[in-house]
Amino acid sequence: MPSSFVTKTVVITGASSGIGRAAALEFARRGADLVLAARRAEQLETVAAECRALGARCSIVVTDVTKRDDCVRLVESAPQLDVLVNNAGFAAFDAIESAKPDELESMMQTNFFGMVRCTQAALPRMLARGSGTIVNVSSIAGIMGYAGMGGYCATKFAMIGFTEALRDEVIGRGVRVAMVCPGTTDTEFFLQAEREKMPGASRLIPAVRPETIARAIADAAADGRYRRILPFGAAAYMRFKELFPRAAHLFMRRVSAWLE
Ligand SMILES: NC(=O)c1ccc[n+]([C@@H]2O[C@H](COP(=O)([O-])OP(=O)(O)OC[C@H]3O[C@@H](n4cnc5c(N)ncnc54)[C@H](OP(=O)(O)O)[C@@H]3O)[C@@H](O)[C@H]2O)c1
Repeated sequence: MPSSFVTKTVVITGASSGIGRAAALEFARRGADLVLAARRAEQLETVAAECRALGARCSIVVTDVTKRDDCVRLVESAPQLDVLVNNAGFAAFDAIESAKPDELESMMQTNFFGMVRCTQAALPRMLARGSGTIVNVSSIAGIMGYAGMGGYCATKFAMIGFTEALRDEVIGRGVRVAMVCPGTTDTEFFLQAEREKMPGASRLIPAVRPETIARAIADAAADGRYRRILPFGAAAYMRFKELFPRAAHLFMRRVSAWLE
């Protein structure tokens, strides 16, 4: 039986498509009120209508997470703030020798600093109330560095360092911090990120549906468990990488070269 979010308000960034949209629908099914954020108003309105059809009270706030004022306005617009899901993000994959500096900065501004801005806007409210949960959507690319994806990996590693530190700062003060690390997920993400630039071996684990990640996000918001890695194959490989990093990288390089 999935946990209920009746009487809870959930703010989700990057809710206009993919994992964020699926998370909005999952929270709506579990009874939450929603505040949805992203830059594309029309897509956000469509997702909001889908959530309302499931019985949720849902508002949208057009937000660019690279702008501090937008993040503050988003958080202030929530009548109550029980859960913040920092999900907005994108990737441009390239070898470091050829990656465009503007793109590297832009990824960091969105994926990492976007999360920082929303978190800093939300924390004082949550701490003052002594309750609230922040769920950060990182990636398996935040646990293992992948050739051809260095700039993106850096943003997701940064998210994990920030999330770990924040968890230790707020523990015992009523605020919980959790993290979901998806493997490859079938979303609009790959309209920009080029799947063929990923190391071949990383593509051996089949892509999951955004609904699977959305359930993990809602479960993390419910139980506050620190880290979820999905799917199972990715979780197992990440555990292997953490225990035997050199072997995991050697495997990734050798098998990727063999698959080329
Ligand atoms: N797909 C994967 O394989 C995968 C794997 C691991 C982790 N992730 C992470 O999961 C998260 C969601 O990605 P997704 O797969 O669902 O991709 P997606 O379908 O492209 O969704 C990305 C969302 O982020 C929003 N966004 C991008 N830049 C933004 C900005 N500056 N301000 C506000 N919103 C912004 C987009 O909305 P607008 O364009 O309307 O602003 C969109 O709603 C990302 O953080 C991604 O890194 C994805």
